Amino acid sequence: MNSLENIVSLCKRRGFIFPGSDVYGGFAGTWDFGPLGTILKKNLMDAWWHFFVESRDDMYGVDAAILMNPKTWEASGHTATFADPLVECKECKSRFRADKIAEGITESVTTEEFLNTHTKCPVCSKESWGPIRKFNMMFTTHVGAVLPDDDKDLSDKNIAYLRPETAQGIFTNYKNIIDTIYPSLPFGIAQQGKAFRNEISPRDFILRDRECSQMEIEYFVKPSTWEDNFETLRQLQHTFLEDIIGLDPANIHELEVPAEDRAHYSRRTIDFMFDYPTGEEELMGLAYRTDFDLMNIQMASGKSMEYRDKNTGDTFVPHVIEPSIGVERLFLAVLASAYTEEPTGDDGTRIVLKLPENLAPYKFCVSPLLKNKPELVTKAKEVYTALKSKYTFVTWDDSGNIGKRYRKQDEIGTPKCIVIDFDTLTDDTVTVRDRDTTEQTRVKISEL
Ligand code: GAP
Repeated sequence: MNSLENIVSLCKRRGFIFPGSDVYGGFAGTWDFGPLGTILKKNLMDAWWHFFVESRDDMYGVDAAILMNPKTWEASGHTATFADPLVECKECKSRFRADKIAEGITESVTTEEFLNTHTKCPVCSKESWGPIRKFNMMFTTHVGAVLPDDDKDLSDKNIAYLRPETAQGIFTNYKNIIDTIYPSLPFGIAQQGKAFRNEISPRDFILRDRECSQMEIEYFVKPSTWEDNFETLRQLQHTFLEDIIGLDPANIHELEVPAEDRAHYSRRTIDFMFDYPTGEEELMGLAYRTDFDLMNIQMASGKSMEYRDKNTGDTFVPHVIEPSIGVERLFLAVLASAYTEEPTGDDGTRIVLKLPENLAPYKFCVSPLLKNKPELVTKAKEVYTALKSKYTFVTWDDSGNIGKRYRKQDEIGTPKCIVIDFDTLTDDTVTVRDRDTTEQTRVKISEL
């Protein structure tokens, strides 16, 4: 596997991802997608949306507000339990997520268990720890006209949270969808959007962020059918990751999450782990959330969340299977899989991003062999304009020499480079150079 540093460096060098607020020295846990990263991210999100929503008859999309009534997070259990184990070094006062600095413990670690691991502080190397404290990861903000010197009661009343999962925007719209679309069970509601977590230690590039994007589905089923639906959705995740996105199945591992490590709402969870450059990490999760969320909403809102079966007339609160994936983690899995270094004949190295064609930011790069020959430039522009109107994702490059252009296009994953030379002017053929094999073939412009 490639080193993470190489990927981070390529991302910055070629405009995929920059540190958030880069000009001010960054802002931990935030990242900005540059021109190429924006296209790749959108391609990933569009591929997911198309596969799971547009191409099916049982899925409905929502785009809910990020700011939600704080009752949402009371009912969902996030206010009480969405917390990580925080531990502070008594010597240097550095704070860490306990389960990330000690071996063999989980998120539910107790102080005693942590102390028994005899972990040294990663900053000062001392072994002098305070107790494990639960740190709630939701970001708070104040809604409306609240001033810093308002009394505490007033500001507490105006607290709202930046959503830590997109899922609750789905659950809170379940009744709206039932009442307007009248879907038959089983059906799913899907959402893509930002989620925020005040991670104690954001790390590993875009793997653990404070602001990330999620793609989630809540799939509502008859309680007795949850196992079959869980299995179907499990298989569909593999189809998406492997056949649509092109990840190598050998790098994907299912982890059956033991009861003590599952989120508070889940009765079964499979984490889909991926072999990242930094080791095996969670790429996505598939959880059986039972009727936990709808029941809690029903209780907190006083509104019925029952579904009435159109055939039998039975009424019940559906159960839910939830596939949930982070866009940044998918993005990094794709980049890590595509990043390749190949030796060239002259003792050099060629860096190639072997992205699947459906994900590559540009499908073609068009250039004139020489930029100071107006007849070549005019012809190349003609070809560029025609391809751009046909394929949209086409780029133009007339900088440097042809070798440098190929090198740049290899690094950003452009599958084909098209070069217009003097022969083009007489026979209307162009050179098409393949990114992966570097082979060059002559093709008629009309066949592009
Ligand atoms: N609604 C369920 C839920 O949010 P989760 O396991 O906490 O479950 C789901 O998050 C997915 O969101 C993860 O598998 C991961 O892909 C992504 N994710 C979660 N926290 C993240 C973070 N801090 N940075 C980047 N991605 C994150």
